[in-house]
Amino acid sequence: MKQELIRNFAIIAHIDHGKSTLADRFLELTKTVPQREMKDQLLDQMDLERERGITIKLQPVRMSWKEYELNLIDTPGHVDFTYEVSRSLAAVEGAILLVDATCGIQAQTLSNLHLAKEQNLGIIPVINKIDLQGAEIDQVSQEIESVLGISKSGILLVSAKEGTGIDKVLDTIVERIPAPKGDANQPLQALIFDSIFDSYRGVVAYVRIVNGSIKKGDKIRFLATEREGESLEVGYFKPKFTATNTLSAGEIGYIITGLKSVQDAKVGDTITVQSSKFKIQSLPGYKQVKPFVFASFFTTTGEPKTLREALEKLQLNDAALSFEPETSSVLGFGFRGGFLGLLHLDIIRERLEREYNLDLIITTPSVPYKVAISDKLSAISEILINNPSEFPDPSQIREIKEPYVKLEIITPVNYLGPVMELVQNRRGIYKEIKYLDSKTTLLTYEIPLVEILVDFYDKLKQVSSGYASLNYELIGFRPEKLVKMDFLVAGDKIEPLSVIIPEKNAHRIGRVIVKKLKEVIPRQMFEVSLQAAISGKIIAREDIPALRKDVTAKLYGGDVTRKRKLLEKQKKGKQKMKRLGKVDIPQEAFLAVLKR
Ligand code: GTP
Repeated sequence: MKQELIRNFAIIAHIDHGKSTLADRFLELTKTVPQREMKDQLLDQMDLERERGITIKLQPVRMSWKEYELNLIDTPGHVDFTYEVSRSLAAVEGAILLVDATCGIQAQTLSNLHLAKEQNLGIIPVINKIDLQGAEIDQVSQEIESVLGISKSGILLVSAKEGTGIDKVLDTIVERIPAPKGDANQPLQALIFDSIFDSYRGVVAYVRIVNGSIKKGDKIRFLATEREGESLEVGYFKPKFTATNTLSAGEIGYIITGLKSVQDAKVGDTITVQSSKFKIQSLPGYKQVKPFVFASFFTTTGEPKTLREALEKLQLNDAALSFEPETSSVLGFGFRGGFLGLLHLDIIRERLEREYNLDLIITTPSVPYKVAISDKLSAISEILINNPSEFPDPSQIREIKEPYVKLEIITPVNYLGPVMELVQNRRGIYKEIKYLDSKTTLLTYEIPLVEILVDFYDKLKQVSSGYASLNYELIGFRPEKLVKMDFLVAGDKIEPLSVIIPEKNAHRIGRVIVKKLKEVIPRQMFEVSLQAAISGKIIAREDIPALRKDVTAKLYGGDVTRKRKLLEKQKKGKQKMKRLGKVDIPQEAFLAVLKR
């Protein structure tokens, strides 16, 4: 395809503003997918995405529109998956910024727009859901004009659900988004923006061809990893893999590499041809993302080796995931994983359980801490810990720093009071308030990451009747007086439950957590004490009374099936538990200690 006839673009938006639905209409109108194969949110291909109604993975697709070739990359909207968005944006020349007519600009709209601007992309603002009663087209247009500096006359109006205004969007893409630059006669430079592992074909690299071209059978080289191989097949996305003869400069497609090791085709690496004639430069690639939520994975059944293999495979498909082996005295061999947020962690857990049939226990998530330590003789040194079990002896600690984020909240003015109260109760430091228009404000705070990790988002939605939205980014580490709190269950210290908390709230937090643990740990045949302790000193206690009755006792008589069913049900509930010390601890306990 001639380069001037190619357009590469992404759709970016806040979560649920309708990206995947708009993509459906594009696929229909361009007849990319036969009508009988169409289904809602077709580009959300993972079962998990369809069930939860969210996009997790970026997904490219090629469409024909008039004489043009359009390559779309659909991206996720949730803050935990921003890395997917930024990688997609580096592979395209333009972006549709989709805004829901009933919600207006929300926190992720702004942050994704910043990412697109950093890449100098052509931006087409589109207001979606104009079919809805509550659509406020004038007000949202005004917001887009004042916040994005794009004149109202350039804004397109669509209903992705009903299919109105879609052809105009495709025409505008052709008009306003520049054709890719690049030279098909140069040696190959292909940017890997994603990759997957397929058990039959090995590593499949998703690429944007920047210069040169590639065909089946070409000998290829990966510049960063210095691996060599052969292109077994090249093709594009329809969205299914569709083989073609060549991919050339400006195009988006895939290369089946035949590589078997998941470590060899890194996202951000450059693929080129094997040749000694040219000295080929690496493309800029991507910043390595740093995980800032950590949790340990242990299998309740099966080998740690299976877990390692599963994690390695997922890692190829998820460039933001990192992990290392860990041994716990109570849980055995497992892995400490690093994630971009709790949703990311939850998705990885669910994928491991579904796709690899693993039964897992995941310990309490933690953020990383920087701790300056010294004993009497040695100089001060700083260590980074991402697991409370690594917390040094308090007598050695000189200073502890915890991660802070810049938190942006967009909220209607009438919820300003409760929203600010919520953030201030979580150690938030107020920075700024801006009015996006007469009814909407953008609040900026600095806040410890750990404070927004667990139930903050739900609380924010609660106090704002669902209207407020948030976005955050890491800004660095700041000192705080922190202590490690341990928990004893029936007298045994359960290390994986330990948390690091501010000293000044320690007593209150201790009392809240033991109450929470009492709710989630099931009653045993004996009385179980629950204690919170700091440096060995008990500061809070609750007791779980002993269980007296056999659950099946009341089912006397002949009904064996009922009895069996009940025992079966009980067994199922138990699967998600792990015996730690004398007591079975359920999975929920590990999250309960974070909900304060
Ligand atoms: P994420 O990928 O999770 O960020 O969501 P998304 O932006 O892809 O949103 P999606 O396409 O899944 O749409 C979210 C919801 O809005 C779905 O229930 C859609 O049916 C609905 N929706 C999308 N477009 C329209 C529209 O034009 N009108 C109406 N009434 N509903 C729409």
